[in-house]
Amino acid sequence: MPRGLFITFEGLDGSGKTTQINRLAAWLKKRGHGALITRQPGGTATGDRIRALLLDSRSKGLAPMAEMALMFGDRAQVIAEVLTPALTAGEIILCDRYTDSTEAYQGGGRELGSEIVLELHRLICDGLQPDLTLLLLPSLEPSLARARRRNQRAVKESGEDETRFEQEQDAFYSRVWQKYREIAAREPARVVLIEGDLSIDEVHERIVAAVTQRLAGLAAGRLHS
Ligand code: TMP
Repeated sequence: MPRGLFITFEGLDGSGKTTQINRLAAWLKKRGHGALITRQPGGTATGDRIRALLLDSRSKGLAPMAEMALMFGDRAQVIAEVLTPALTAGEIILCDRYTDSTEAYQGGGRELGSEIVLELHRLICDGLQPDLTLLLLPSLEPSLARARRRNQRAVKESGEDETRFEQEQDAFYSRVWQKYREIAAREPARVVLIEGDLSIDEVHERIVAAVTQRLAGLAAGRLHS
């Protein structure tokens, strides 16, 4: 059965993931590769409703376990509805966040620990792992300031409230940051860490280098299957 390429983007809020996903999709298109873009939470009609519940600042006091369970509920839906069919059809998927986000935010930020997240991933996601994860980690303060400004603007302009996470304190984000670095150190073959305050073009170049390598692997795999 042909299998596509599952690429995830990870990082703190405001780290520039969306810009880089769009740049990579355009780069792939120029080379004749379509790419399916999706995100978590969200990416399906049901997932978008779960996203609204999770990110709305009115969901105050959501218990960490409930938050984690909702993240996995959303993920189970996107796997069934989007990821599995697309990968089976040999497509390239660019997914904005996946289980590493749960490990970093709920495992690290909310201090639930990695073990429970990885166990739920095994049970609920059938162990579906990305072929490549691009982890963007520019400096913490400017990223957060950017994310907070953007979300406040969205509240004013469209009434869409996605500010619940951005209201967390800096200590929460330091724990998220640490956990991301831990994941990168644990899984160097899958996770490409792009650190520091690089320009949009510089980050794009590093992403292209990593993706080019994986595309060659995909082509070789198809040749031999
Ligand atoms: P984003 O889609 O704008 O990046 O924001 C989604 C927010 O949800 C972000 O603050 C990270 C958070 N999140 C988690 O806490 N756990 C998860 O498993 C996922 C996918 C996202």
